[in-house]
Amino acid sequence: MRVDLIVGTRPNFVKAASLHRALRAYPDVFDLRLVHTGQHYDAGMSEVFFRELGLPPPDVALRVGSGSPGAQIGEIMSLYDQTLAANPAALVLVVGDVSSTVGCALAAVQRGAAVGHVEAGLRSFDRTMPEEVNRVVTDRVSDFLFIASPEARENLLREGTPPEQIFLVGNVLIDTLHWRRAEIPRSEVLGTLGLEPRRYGVVTLHRPSNVDDAARLVDVLEALATLRGELEFVFPVHPRTRQALAGLDGGATPERFPNLRLIEPLGYTDFLALVCRSLLVVTDSGGLQEETTAVGVPCLTLRENTERPITLSEGTNQLIGRGRERLATAVRRILAGDR
Ligand code: UD1
Repeated sequence: MRVDLIVGTRPNFVKAASLHRALRAYPDVFDLRLVHTGQHYDAGMSEVFFRELGLPPPDVALRVGSGSPGAQIGEIMSLYDQTLAANPAALVLVVGDVSSTVGCALAAVQRGAAVGHVEAGLRSFDRTMPEEVNRVVTDRVSDFLFIASPEARENLLREGTPPEQIFLVGNVLIDTLHWRRAEIPRSEVLGTLGLEPRRYGVVTLHRPSNVDDAARLVDVLEALATLRGELEFVFPVHPRTRQALAGLDGGATPERFPNLRLIEPLGYTDFLALVCRSLLVVTDSGGLQEETTAVGVPCLTLRENTERPITLSEGTNQLIGRGRERLATAVRRILAGDR
Protein backbone atom coordinates (compact mmCIF):
# COMPACT_ATOMS: atom_id res chain seq x y z
CA MET A 1 0.00 0.00 0.00
CA ARG A 2 1.45 3.38 -1.01
CA VAL A 3 1.33 5.68 2.03
CA ASP A 4 2.36 9.32 1.80
CA LEU A 5 3.51 10.90 5.06
CA ILE A 6 3.27 14.71 4.81
CA VAL A 7 5.58 17.14 6.61
CA GLY A 8 6.12 20.86 6.16
CA THR A 9 6.93 22.64 9.41
CA ARG A 10 9.19 22.12 12.40
CA PRO A 11 6.55 20.50 14.66
CA ASN A 12 5.54 18.20 11.79
CA PHE A 13 9.07 16.79 11.57
CA VAL A 14 9.07 15.92 15.27
CA LYS A 15 5.68 14.20 15.12
CA ALA A 16 6.37 12.45 11.81
CA ALA A 17 9.61 10.97 13.16
CA SER A 18 7.66 8.54 15.35
CA LEU A 19 5.20 7.73 12.57
CA HIS A 20 7.96 7.13 10.06
CA ARG A 21 9.74 4.78 12.48
CA ALA A 22 6.54 2.84 13.07
CA LEU A 23 5.56 2.57 9.41
CA ARG A 24 8.97 1.69 8.03
CA ALA A 25 9.04 -1.33 10.33
CA TYR A 26 6.53 -2.93 7.92
CA PRO A 27 8.13 -2.60 4.48
CA ASP A 28 6.06 -5.50 3.13
CA VAL A 29 2.85 -3.70 3.98
CA PHE A 30 3.60 0.00 3.47
CA ASP A 31 5.32 1.55 0.49
CA LEU A 32 6.18 4.69 2.41
CA ARG A 33 6.83 8.03 0.71
CA LEU A 34 7.94 11.06 2.74
CA VAL A 35 6.61 14.31 1.25
CA HIS A 36 8.12 17.65 2.41
CA THR A 37 6.07 20.65 1.29
CA GLY A 38 8.95 23.06 2.01
CA GLN A 39 6.82 25.34 4.21
CA HIS A 40 9.82 25.52 6.56
CA TYR A 41 13.07 25.53 4.63
CA ASP A 42 15.87 27.16 6.71
CA ALA A 43 18.45 24.55 7.70
CA GLY A 44 17.84 25.34 11.38
CA MET A 45 14.06 24.91 10.97
CA SER A 46 14.11 21.78 8.80
CA GLU A 47 17.33 19.91 7.92
CA VAL A 48 18.59 19.68 11.51
CA PHE A 49 15.39 17.87 12.52
CA PHE A 50 15.69 15.35 9.69
CA ARG A 51 19.25 14.62 10.79
CA GLU A 52 18.60 14.38 14.52
CA LEU A 53 15.35 12.45 14.27
CA GLY A 54 16.53 9.84 11.80
CA LEU A 55 14.22 10.92 9.00
CA PRO A 56 15.55 10.08 5.52
CA PRO A 57 15.73 12.87 2.93
CA PRO A 58 12.21 13.49 1.57
CA ASP A 59 11.14 11.35 -1.39
CA VAL A 60 9.18 14.31 -2.70
CA ALA A 61 10.10 17.97 -2.08
CA LEU A 62 7.39 20.44 -3.13
CA ARG A 63 9.48 23.54 -2.27
CA VAL A 64 6.48 25.75 -1.63
CA GLY A 65 8.24 28.39 0.52
CA SER A 66 6.58 31.21 2.44
CA GLY A 67 3.36 33.12 1.79
CA SER A 68 0.08 34.09 3.42
CA PRO A 69 -1.82 31.02 4.69
CA GLY A 70 -4.31 31.21 1.80
CA ALA A 71 -1.63 31.52 -0.87
CA GLN A 72 0.47 28.83 0.76
CA ILE A 73 -2.42 26.36 1.07
CA GLY A 74 -3.37 26.97 -2.56
CA GLU A 75 0.14 26.36 -3.79
CA ILE A 76 0.58 23.25 -1.66
CA MET A 77 -2.70 21.84 -3.02
CA SER A 78 -1.65 22.50 -6.57
CA LEU A 79 1.85 21.04 -6.20
CA TYR A 80 0.75 17.99 -4.25
CA ASP A 81 -2.09 17.38 -6.72
CA GLN A 82 0.54 17.08 -9.46
CA THR A 83 2.50 14.60 -7.33
CA LEU A 84 -0.58 12.45 -6.80
CA ALA A 85 -1.56 12.66 -10.47
CA ALA A 86 1.83 11.25 -11.47
CA ASN A 87 2.12 8.78 -8.56
CA PRO A 88 -1.11 8.07 -6.68
CA ALA A 89 -1.17 7.15 -2.99
CA ALA A 90 -3.73 4.90 -1.31
CA LEU A 91 -3.43 6.64 2.05
CA VAL A 92 -2.18 10.12 2.90
CA LEU A 93 -1.19 10.78 6.50
CA VAL A 94 -1.18 14.40 7.64
CA VAL A 95 -0.19 15.63 11.09
CA GLY A 96 -1.06 18.72 13.14
CA ASP A 97 -2.76 21.87 11.94
CA VAL A 98 -0.48 23.86 9.64
CA SER A 99 -0.98 25.01 6.04
CA SER A 100 0.77 21.85 4.80
CA THR A 101 -1.69 19.66 6.74
CA VAL A 102 -4.85 21.08 5.24
CA GLY A 103 -3.38 21.70 1.76
CA CYS A 104 -2.30 18.10 1.30
CA ALA A 105 -5.47 16.70 2.90
CA LEU A 106 -7.63 18.62 0.42
CA ALA A 107 -5.49 17.62 -2.58
CA ALA A 108 -5.58 13.98 -1.44
CA VAL A 109 -9.37 13.70 -1.11
CA GLN A 110 -9.81 15.32 -4.51
CA ARG A 111 -7.58 12.58 -5.96
CA GLY A 112 -9.54 9.84 -4.21
CA ALA A 113 -6.89 8.91 -1.62
CA ALA A 114 -7.92 8.02 1.90
CA VAL A 115 -6.75 10.61 4.43
CA GLY A 116 -5.62 9.97 7.99
CA HIS A 117 -5.27 12.96 10.32
CA VAL A 118 -2.88 12.44 13.21
CA GLU A 119 -3.65 14.81 16.13
CA ALA A 120 -7.28 15.15 15.07
CA GLY A 121 -10.13 16.66 17.06
CA LEU A 122 -8.27 19.47 18.84
CA ARG A 123 -10.34 22.65 19.09
CA SER A 124 -9.55 26.09 20.49
CA PHE A 125 -12.96 27.32 19.23
CA ASP A 126 -11.12 30.44 18.07
CA ARG A 127 -11.51 30.84 14.32
CA THR A 128 -9.21 33.87 14.27
CA MET A 129 -6.33 31.37 14.45
CA PRO A 130 -5.42 29.95 11.01
CA GLU A 131 -4.64 26.65 12.75
CA GLU A 132 -8.22 26.28 14.05
CA VAL A 133 -9.60 26.61 10.53
CA ASN A 134 -6.99 24.08 9.34
CA ARG A 135 -8.00 21.65 12.09
CA VAL A 136 -11.72 21.85 11.36
CA VAL A 137 -11.32 21.49 7.60
CA THR A 138 -8.75 18.68 7.81
CA ASP A 139 -10.90 16.68 10.23
CA ARG A 140 -13.95 17.19 8.05
CA VAL A 141 -12.33 15.62 4.97
CA SER A 142 -10.33 12.88 6.74
CA ASP A 143 -11.35 9.22 6.75
CA PHE A 144 -9.30 8.24 9.81
CA LEU A 145 -9.17 10.55 12.81
CA PHE A 146 -6.27 9.61 15.06
CA ILE A 147 -6.73 11.39 18.37
CA ALA A 148 -4.37 11.91 21.31
CA SER A 149 -6.78 12.77 24.13
CA PRO A 150 -10.37 11.93 25.10
CA GLU A 151 -11.87 15.40 24.62
CA ALA A 152 -10.89 15.25 20.95
CA ARG A 153 -13.46 12.46 20.54
CA GLU A 154 -16.18 14.65 22.08
CA ASN A 155 -15.27 17.50 19.73
CA LEU A 156 -15.46 15.24 16.68
CA LEU A 157 -18.69 13.53 17.71
CA ARG A 158 -20.31 16.94 18.29
CA GLU A 159 -19.42 17.84 14.71
CA GLY A 160 -21.05 14.67 13.40
CA THR A 161 -17.98 12.48 12.80
CA PRO A 162 -18.97 8.79 12.74
CA PRO A 163 -17.49 7.15 15.89
CA GLU A 164 -15.99 4.29 13.87
CA GLN A 165 -13.63 6.78 12.17
CA ILE A 166 -12.10 7.91 15.49
CA PHE A 167 -9.07 6.11 16.97
CA LEU A 168 -7.45 7.05 20.29
CA VAL A 169 -3.78 6.34 19.56
CA GLY A 170 -1.81 8.55 21.96
CA ASN A 171 0.43 11.50 21.27
CA VAL A 172 3.14 11.18 18.61
CA LEU A 173 4.89 14.38 19.75
CA ILE A 174 5.39 12.79 23.16
CA ASP A 175 6.35 9.44 21.59
CA THR A 176 9.26 11.24 19.93
CA LEU A 177 10.14 12.99 23.20
CA HIS A 178 10.34 9.69 25.10
CA TRP A 179 12.34 8.11 22.29
CA ARG A 180 14.91 10.95 22.26
CA ARG A 181 14.99 11.77 25.98
CA ALA A 182 18.05 9.62 26.61
CA GLU A 183 20.03 11.98 24.33
CA ILE A 184 19.48 14.98 26.61
CA PRO A 185 22.48 14.39 28.92
CA ARG A 186 24.69 14.57 25.82
CA SER A 187 23.54 18.11 25.00
CA GLU A 188 26.05 20.82 25.85
CA VAL A 189 23.59 23.65 25.40
CA LEU A 190 23.59 24.80 29.03
CA GLY A 191 27.37 24.95 29.18
CA THR A 192 27.58 26.75 25.84
CA LEU A 193 25.09 29.38 27.00
CA GLY A 194 26.58 29.54 30.52
CA LEU A 195 23.33 28.57 32.25
CA GLU A 196 22.65 26.86 35.58
CA PRO A 197 19.80 24.32 35.74
CA ARG A 198 16.49 25.83 37.03
CA ARG A 199 17.99 29.35 37.12
CA TYR A 200 16.49 30.54 33.83
CA GLY A 201 13.24 30.58 31.88
CA VAL A 202 12.74 29.65 28.21
CA VAL A 203 10.68 31.87 25.91
CA THR A 204 9.24 30.97 22.51
CA LEU A 205 6.88 33.23 20.59
CA HIS A 206 5.71 32.95 17.01
CA ARG A 207 1.91 33.30 16.82
CA PRO A 208 0.84 36.13 14.52
CA SER A 209 -1.40 37.43 17.36
CA ASN A 210 1.67 37.92 19.58
CA VAL A 211 4.42 38.91 17.17
CA ASP A 212 2.90 40.55 14.08
CA ASP A 213 1.51 43.43 16.18
CA ALA A 214 4.54 45.45 17.35
CA ALA A 215 2.70 46.92 20.37
CA ARG A 216 1.75 43.46 21.61
CA LEU A 217 5.26 42.09 21.08
CA VAL A 218 6.83 44.98 23.01
CA ASP A 219 4.26 44.46 25.75
CA VAL A 220 5.35 40.83 26.23
CA LEU A 221 9.06 41.68 26.15
CA GLU A 222 8.58 44.53 28.61
CA ALA A 223 6.62 42.26 30.94
CA LEU A 224 9.59 39.87 30.92
CA ALA A 225 11.97 42.79 31.45
CA THR A 226 10.14 43.74 34.67
CA LEU A 227 11.62 40.49 36.03
CA ARG A 228 15.24 41.64 35.56
CA GLY A 229 17.32 40.77 38.60
CA GLU A 230 14.90 37.92 39.35
CA LEU A 231 15.10 35.64 36.31
CA GLU A 232 16.98 35.47 33.03
CA PHE A 233 15.15 34.25 29.91
CA VAL A 234 16.61 32.41 26.93
CA PHE A 235 14.65 33.08 23.78
CA PRO A 236 15.38 30.97 20.65
CA VAL A 237 13.88 33.23 18.02
CA HIS A 238 11.57 31.86 15.30
CA PRO A 239 12.12 33.44 11.82
CA ARG A 240 8.73 35.17 11.88
CA THR A 241 9.62 36.71 15.25
CA ARG A 242 13.12 37.62 14.07
CA GLN A 243 11.54 39.74 11.34
CA ALA A 244 9.13 41.33 13.82
CA LEU A 245 11.96 42.15 16.25
CA ALA A 246 14.05 43.67 13.46
CA GLY A 247 11.16 46.01 12.65
CA LEU A 248 10.68 47.23 16.24
CA ASP A 249 11.13 50.93 16.94
CA GLY A 250 14.26 51.13 19.08
CA GLY A 251 15.14 47.47 18.39
CA ALA A 252 15.33 44.56 20.83
CA THR A 253 18.65 45.57 22.37
CA PRO A 254 20.20 44.11 25.55
CA GLU A 255 20.01 47.60 27.13
CA ARG A 256 16.27 47.64 26.65
CA PHE A 257 15.64 44.00 27.61
CA PRO A 258 18.62 43.12 29.84
CA ASN A 259 17.37 39.74 31.08
CA LEU A 260 16.47 38.40 27.60
CA ARG A 261 19.01 36.28 25.68
CA LEU A 262 17.98 36.14 22.03
CA ILE A 263 19.51 33.12 20.30
CA GLU A 264 19.08 31.30 16.98
CA PRO A 265 16.52 28.45 16.78
CA LEU A 266 17.91 25.25 18.33
CA GLY A 267 17.86 21.67 17.11
CA TYR A 268 15.58 19.13 18.76
CA THR A 269 17.86 17.69 21.45
CA ASP A 270 19.35 21.01 22.52
CA PHE A 271 15.94 22.60 22.75
CA LEU A 272 14.60 19.69 24.78
CA ALA A 273 17.62 19.88 27.08
CA LEU A 274 17.09 23.64 27.51
CA VAL A 275 13.41 23.12 28.38
CA CYS A 276 13.91 20.12 30.68
CA ARG A 277 16.42 21.98 32.85
CA SER A 278 14.61 25.31 32.91
CA LEU A 279 12.58 26.71 35.80
CA LEU A 280 9.66 27.54 33.54
CA VAL A 281 8.62 28.12 29.95
CA VAL A 282 6.76 31.12 28.52
CA THR A 283 5.28 30.30 25.12
CA ASP A 284 2.50 30.57 22.59
CA SER A 285 3.35 27.23 20.95
CA GLY A 286 0.85 24.38 20.85
CA GLY A 287 3.28 21.48 21.09
CA LEU A 288 5.35 22.99 23.86
CA GLN A 289 2.29 23.02 26.13
CA GLU A 290 2.29 19.23 25.79
CA GLU A 291 6.05 18.75 26.00
CA THR A 292 6.35 20.78 29.24
CA THR A 293 3.52 18.75 30.73
CA ALA A 294 5.32 15.54 29.76
CA VAL A 295 8.58 16.63 31.42
CA GLY A 296 6.95 18.39 34.40
CA VAL A 297 8.18 21.93 33.73
CA PRO A 298 5.70 24.78 34.43
CA CYS A 299 4.37 26.39 31.25
CA LEU A 300 2.87 29.89 31.00
CA THR A 301 0.95 30.15 27.75
CA LEU A 302 0.50 33.61 26.26
CA ARG A 303 -2.88 32.92 24.72
CA GLU A 304 -6.52 33.39 25.70
CA ASN A 305 -7.43 29.79 24.85
CA THR A 306 -5.90 26.43 24.09
CA GLU A 307 -6.88 23.51 21.87
CA ARG A 308 -5.03 21.33 24.38
CA PRO A 309 -7.12 21.70 27.58
CA ILE A 310 -5.73 18.44 28.97
CA THR A 311 -2.46 20.30 29.61
CA LEU A 312 -4.39 22.64 31.93
CA SER A 313 -6.41 19.98 33.77
CA GLU A 314 -3.76 17.26 33.99
CA GLY A 315 -0.52 19.07 33.29
CA THR A 316 1.73 22.02 34.06
CA ASN A 317 0.13 24.57 31.73
CA GLN A 318 -1.53 27.87 32.70
CA LEU A 319 -3.24 30.27 30.31
CA ILE A 320 -1.88 33.74 30.95
CA GLY A 321 -3.68 35.62 28.16
CA ARG A 322 -2.50 39.11 27.35
CA GLY A 323 -2.23 40.64 30.80
CA ARG A 324 1.25 41.99 31.58
CA GLU A 325 0.77 41.75 35.31
CA ARG A 326 -0.48 38.18 35.11
CA LEU A 327 2.71 37.04 33.43
CA ALA A 328 5.01 38.67 36.00
CA THR A 329 2.84 37.42 38.88
CA ALA A 330 2.81 33.86 37.56
CA VAL A 331 6.61 33.86 37.12
CA ARG A 332 7.12 35.23 40.66
CA ARG A 333 4.85 32.56 42.07
CA ILE A 334 6.98 29.84 40.46
CA LEU A 335 10.17 31.57 41.63
CA ALA A 336 8.74 31.47 45.14
CA GLY A 337 8.40 27.70 44.83
CA ASP A 338 4.65 27.61 44.22
CA ARG A 339 4.10 25.68 41.01
C1 UD1 B 1 3.75 27.77 11.01
C2 UD1 B 1 2.33 27.32 11.28
C3 UD1 B 1 2.06 27.35 12.77
C4 UD1 B 1 3.10 26.53 13.51
C5 UD1 B 1 4.49 26.99 13.14
C6 UD1 B 1 5.55 26.12 13.79
C7 UD1 B 1 0.66 27.83 9.53
C8 UD1 B 1 -0.42 28.75 9.10
N1 UD1 B 1 1.34 28.20 10.63
O1 UD1 B 1 3.86 29.10 11.48
O2 UD1 B 1 0.78 26.80 13.04
O3 UD1 B 1 2.89 26.65 14.90
O4 UD1 B 1 4.65 26.93 11.71
O5 UD1 B 1 6.82 26.69 13.69
O6 UD1 B 1 0.87 26.83 8.91
N2 UD1 B 1 10.38 31.61 7.60
C9 UD1 B 1 11.74 31.57 7.40
N3 UD1 B 1 12.32 30.33 7.28
C10 UD1 B 1 11.63 29.18 7.36
C11 UD1 B 1 10.24 29.25 7.56
C12 UD1 B 1 9.63 30.47 7.69
O7 UD1 B 1 12.41 32.57 7.33
O8 UD1 B 1 12.23 28.10 7.25
C13 UD1 B 1 9.75 32.94 7.78
C14 UD1 B 1 9.13 33.47 6.51
O9 UD1 B 1 9.32 34.81 6.45
C15 UD1 B 1 7.65 33.21 6.72
C16 UD1 B 1 7.50 33.30 8.22
O10 UD1 B 1 8.72 32.84 8.76
O11 UD1 B 1 6.87 34.12 6.03
C17 UD1 B 1 6.37 32.48 8.76
O12 UD1 B 1 6.47 31.12 8.30
P1 UD1 B 1 5.12 30.27 8.06
O13 UD1 B 1 5.46 28.88 7.75
O14 UD1 B 1 4.19 31.00 7.15
O15 UD1 B 1 4.40 30.35 9.46
P2 UD1 B 1 4.98 30.08 10.92
O16 UD1 B 1 4.87 31.35 11.67
O17 UD1 B 1 6.29 29.39 10.85
